[in-house]
Amino acid sequence: MKILLILALAFLGRTALGDTHHPSPAPPADNGFQSLFPDDVEDYWARDADGVELDVPYVPTPMNVVEAILELGRVGPGDILYDLGCGDGRIVIAAAKYFGVPGVGVDLDPRRIEDSLENAAIDGVEDLVTFYVADIFETDFSEASVVAIYLLPSVNLELRPHLLEQLRPGSRVVSHQFHMGEWEPDHHLEVESIYDVADLYLWLIPAPVEGNWNGEITAGDDRLPISLFLAREFQQVWGAVKLEEVTAPVREGRLRGTGISLDIGDLDFEGAKVSLRFLGEVEGDRASGLVLIENGRWTGVYPWEASRR
Ligand SMILES: C[S@@+](CC[C@H](N)C(=O)[O-])C[C@H]1O[C@@H](n2cnc3c(N)ncnc32)[C@H](O)[C@@H]1O
Repeated sequence: MKILLILALAFLGRTALGDTHHPSPAPPADNGFQSLFPDDVEDYWARDADGVELDVPYVPTPMNVVEAILELGRVGPGDILYDLGCGDGRIVIAAAKYFGVPGVGVDLDPRRIEDSLENAAIDGVEDLVTFYVADIFETDFSEASVVAIYLLPSVNLELRPHLLEQLRPGSRVVSHQFHMGEWEPDHHLEVESIYDVADLYLWLIPAPVEGNWNGEITAGDDRLPISLFLAREFQQVWGAVKLEEVTAPVREGRLRGTGISLDIGDLDFEGAKVSLRFLGEVEGDRASGLVLIENGRWTGVYPWEASRR
């Protein structure tokens, strides 16, 4: 069932997508997939009054999966949640109702926004939520700390640069069912649902750490100068670290939002093969944390900090 649904979404998406994200034709009524959708599939493959067509048909997320989305996104106090392509508003409304979290839902189909506003009123959360008709590709969602999506693989890929550009490092993106290409999820979860099993993916917007950093390790009364030369793709980090005058490559580097870990091995330092494991937090052009040094006279755990040049 799950495979059929994915195929149906992918098929319908491709049919409607063509080369751009807004072209025509709605799938023919006899495409063989409509049994997965309500009888009025044409109606669900919606067009607004101006004939604008959707990138993704309307398929609501089952309520138990909504719950899992909110949990995976660690939605809570201080958050602002956006659902891009919000359907009947259920994700935004559930976050407001159960966690008191303000949210915004946008959908290109005015009927979905009408439903969302009605549902928000029924649940008494009108003061916390906002719904409006908009294209997700023309929406400013930069205030969001959590973004929920249930789109299609091709639409996710098209949305990816917008997410990376607009959202602050550390913000969360949760996708129901579909991945984000070579941007690996930070977490993947499978949840039982009426469509068999739902895949949920979580990404944390990675801090842009690329560049050259200078700083020091504070080892008691001593200060060991360090330089970090970092490159990055999504959450993968590579480069080199210099400790005093000795340089070694980063063996493994990774970001989890604003959290960074760097492993450096086999650094020939003061006659020993030293390994270093930096853990820290990045805030703009400053980073700090703890470093574990193994082997040699500096073996131990020390604070470190660095600034980008
Ligand atoms: C699969 S449904 C998901 C609905 C809701 N997020 C949920 O999980 O229950 C996708 C929604 O995206 C909307 N949509 C499709 N293309 C859109 C676009 N370019 N901009 C905004 N909304 C769009 C559809 O109208 C539909 O309601």
